[in-house]
Amino acid sequence: MTTVHDLGAPAAASGAPTTARATHAASPPSPPRTVAPFVVAGWGTALPPTIVTNRDLEARLDTTDAWIRERSGIAERRLASPGHTTAGLATDALRTALDRAHLDLADLDVVVVATSTPELPMPPTASLVAAALAGGRDGTAGAGTAGPGTVDLNGACAGFPYALSFAAGQLATGQADTVAVVAAETMSRIIDPEDRSTAVLFGDGAAAVILSQAGQDDRGSGGAGGWVAGGVPGLLAIDLVSDPGGADLLTVPAGGAARPASEATVAAREHYMRMDGREVFRRAVRAVVDSVGRTLSRAGVSAADVDVFVPHQANVRIVDAVLHRTGIDPDHTLGNIERLGNTSAASIPMVLAEAAGSGRPAPGDLVLLTGFGAGLTVGTALVRWGIR
Ligand code: ACO
Repeated sequence: MTTVHDLGAPAAASGAPTTARATHAASPPSPPRTVAPFVVAGWGTALPPTIVTNRDLEARLDTTDAWIRERSGIAERRLASPGHTTAGLATDALRTALDRAHLDLADLDVVVVATSTPELPMPPTASLVAAALAGGRDGTAGAGTAGPGTVDLNGACAGFPYALSFAAGQLATGQADTVAVVAAETMSRIIDPEDRSTAVLFGDGAAAVILSQAGQDDRGSGGAGGWVAGGVPGLLAIDLVSDPGGADLLTVPAGGAARPASEATVAAREHYMRMDGREVFRRAVRAVVDSVGRTLSRAGVSAADVDVFVPHQANVRIVDAVLHRTGIDPDHTLGNIERLGNTSAASIPMVLAEAAGSGRPAPGDLVLLTGFGAGLTVGTALVRWGIR
């Protein structure tokens, strides 16, 4: 099992670098074109404080620490207590990102929240986040005040690349100058605590990044006189696809419009997630490898050009298989699954935000993000890192 780098973990938990297995052609001479320029103006994460270890789960489920570690790479996860909600975690993450960017809610044109565990069926979680940041949900925030646009996006565990695509489109077409991309999940609310096949895998948390129109003063390449050497920061290529044959492999059978929650659905535990993990695993590896290949090819770069790889944190064995088949350098791969488990849509931006706080990626780096989830949705994005 390859151990990817966990920049937020104690030094002893970080993995040893392993050898690159580049299989693609050498880098092209000129930098790839940036299709949607932007810089990352701020970032933040929010985690509930309660840590649940594998040993804690051993005490109440027919499972072992060894099984969970070996099959998934997870050692512990954070779980929300009753006072923590998706909107609350999202608000905390966005507040941190705004502080870091020296911005206020009024500076945001749009807030998009990627989640498959929304605060409520309606309104959008993003609206509740904006309301909380504006000072309250009781109307005291100012009637008629023009807040940012607010929308939720459900791409399951691939939600972040989809939300990133939405934000990049807003910026590239001039519809927005500054967009907050938040991903927040309280997976523990839809996981059956008695189902050992899912209860050991998922965790709760949120992350936010603020994307702003890139200007010549922003740090793209890090070189003097602008970013000519490294290229313009922003989105270079994206691949959003699905595997329709896998639509029934991971579902919450009741609680939606097709089967509203009732005494019968609750008694049958149909408000909890059901997953064919083995088949999701098989399809995910193939779909992610293909999606990564298309994304790199669209940008005209090779696996060897990827400076930082942030895969969805579902299972370390899935990440290993993807690294093996794509040739991406494990030493360039970041992860936090050991500490946080699978936090669905929040997993990619949480890894990214934790790493950004440690100075990685560096300005000008090529950052490859890829996720997959219920649907089966798949999304991969290649970004040239630039910060303000
Ligand atoms: N502890 C001990 N044994 C367990 C546990 C557990 N927690 N869970 C399952 N088992 C047992 C099974 O019952 C089975 O026993 P059997 O052989 O007697 O029938 C055995 O372990 C093997 O089960 P598998 O499901 O084949 O185990 P596998 O190696 O596939 O690992 C896992 C299971 C970890 C779920 C893996 O398949 C996986 O990670 N799949 C991908 C899931 C995923 O990524 N989902 C998230 C998508 S993102 C989203 O949208 C939410």
